Amino acid sequence: MKSHSRRSFLKKLLGGVTALFAGLLPVSSQAGWFGGGSKEEWVSIGKLADLPDGKNTPISVATDVASGKSVKQPKIIASRRGDKVYVMSSRCTHFGCEVELQPDGAYKCPCHGAQFDKVGAVTKGPAKKNLPWCEVKIIESGDVQVNLAGDVAAPVLD
Ligand code: FES
Repeated sequence: MKSHSRRSFLKKLLGGVTALFAGLLPVSSQAGWFGGGSKEEWVSIGKLADLPDGKNTPISVATDVASGKSVKQPKIIASRRGDKVYVMSSRCTHFGCEVELQPDGAYKCPCHGAQFDKVGAVTKGPAKKNLPWCEVKIIESGDVQVNLAGDVAAPVLD
């Protein structure tokens, strides 16, 4: 084996191990998120006015609505369109790496190259499942709240 291909092999192997742990650890601590549980889990992701209109915004920290404390949550993408907000998981459905927003609005996973379109539908494996969407409500104060346990149909985004 040439040193170049050996390096390439080791790099792929390391990427796979990293992705495996990235995928396994969150799954055990995030049971119930994104349609995996029966209990609703609402968190605040901030004010509607703070989300840029027409953009997809990655968010990784939120406030637990019941306790008012900041909590870690699964990484999400919030897409504001006027007075509506749509929220999608940004955890790759293959092994849980965080997908990256591409200039054309699609998403790519840095771990094994899975690709998703603008609404999270798989366009290239190895991921087989689309990125899930969450139920969202905007309360009177303008606070955007997301049910992490929900799993709703993908919206039509422009
Ligand atoms: Fe493997 Fe995303 S974690 S393609």
